[in-house]
Amino acid sequence: MLHFKTIIEPFRIKSVESVKFTHREDRVKALAEAGYNVFRLHAEDVLVDLLTDSGTGAMSAAQWGALMQGDESYAGSRSFYRFRDVVRDLTGYRHIIPTHQGRAAERILFHSVLKPGDVVPNNNHFDTTRANVEVEEAEARDLVIPEGRVPSQVHPFKGNIDLAALERTLETDGARVPLVMVTVTNNTGGGQPVSLENLRGVRKLCDRFGKPFFLDACRFAENSYFVKVREEGHASRTPKSIAQEMFSLADGCTMSAKKDGLANIGGFLAMNDDAWAERCRNLLILTEGFPTYGGLAGYDLEAVARGLEEVVEEPYLRYRIRSTEYLHERLVAAGVPVIRPAGGHAVYIDARALLPHVPPLAYPGIALANALYVEAGIRGVEIGTVMFGRRPDGTEAPGPMDLVRLAIPRRVYTQSHIDYVAEAVIGVAGMKGQLRGYRITQAPAVLRHFTALFEPLPD
Ligand code: F0G
Repeated sequence: MLHFKTIIEPFRIKSVESVKFTHREDRVKALAEAGYNVFRLHAEDVLVDLLTDSGTGAMSAAQWGALMQGDESYAGSRSFYRFRDVVRDLTGYRHIIPTHQGRAAERILFHSVLKPGDVVPNNNHFDTTRANVEVEEAEARDLVIPEGRVPSQVHPFKGNIDLAALERTLETDGARVPLVMVTVTNNTGGGQPVSLENLRGVRKLCDRFGKPFFLDACRFAENSYFVKVREEGHASRTPKSIAQEMFSLADGCTMSAKKDGLANIGGFLAMNDDAWAERCRNLLILTEGFPTYGGLAGYDLEAVARGLEEVVEEPYLRYRIRSTEYLHERLVAAGVPVIRPAGGHAVYIDARALLPHVPPLAYPGIALANALYVEAGIRGVEIGTVMFGRRPDGTEAPGPMDLVRLAIPRRVYTQSHIDYVAEAVIGVAGMKGQLRGYRITQAPAVLRHFTALFEPLPD
């Protein structure tokens, strides 16, 4: 019997969308008009869009079919019960509260349970999570293991939280900690997974100190697959059973269904605690909608329910993790500095290492992301000093790392798109001496990376 090594896309394509080819001079102009911020580009002017894996995936024929089954009743919609049952089967949580996306779940949870001066430990907060903690005048404290802060250092579970540091936080600041969070996979730290053993360690500490434990579960399925292939004793398990165990170790979660919900919009907040759930539902009604739709259409609930079933299928996850790793391998082979190992949803280029002549406060991540757009029409995103360098008091300091993330939308691009991306990144890395830094000319106080305007620095 033949054994094949090639991992192929576990789907065939039924509907396509054209991409627009542009010339370099068009892109130079478009970027200048966008204030040198790729978030402000018209998406149509992008050839391969790796800005985010959020809401940008391709839905399956079964999901599109499910849309027609959407029940748009204001209260008690059939689609809600289908959604609730799928989420409950996966997570085991008692209260399932739909929200329009992940940050709505974060805002509702944090506004309901945080007060000024509180501390929320996490491996790494992602941008909106941090902002939603800080807007409550609480501290978002990142406690990823030391390996997770060094891009070149290889570790199978680089997203793990530092249990000793968490213990110290709970010992010294425990009275100010209303909950502990862990993000799976750890997006800010490179899409790196968290082991079941680490989650068990968090559970133990939370039990000892009497603290609720919540997962930021956006990429729970990718995390489950990493556990299956990297953590001893789980190789023969299904990704779904690993996911169920992950959720069972926590007391609740926030979720963006735009990632591992395989949907274009949606999310949820889920938990076991009755009193917290009631507070959250009351706020949900105020800002999102009735608790059986939470800001979503009935058809969105159907798409998410179906997506959550598809995302834990093993052929999908094998392809997903391998295709990200494929891009990573090509960049490593060419000597481009990247976070190692490959993340689940993205490859992260270490712009600080690639562009040592651009200091962090001149934003090497912006310099590289902008060059990728101008030279190749590829849109990535800076995860660095612009995203994380502005402190709540308004001062600025270098972010923990300066990265450019190339996030791979789910089921959207083929291997030849990815080959093109690899060729382009390697080409741009070869021009590194020509890349210049930037300065910010205008920016809002919170989440400035989305809308800031930049200006290239003189040579
Ligand atoms: N938590 C994590 C770990 C995330 O990556 C995101 C979104 C959110 C929460 C918020 O979810 O967008 O549905 O409100 N991350 C996207 C990204 C935007 O590009 O990584 P949301």
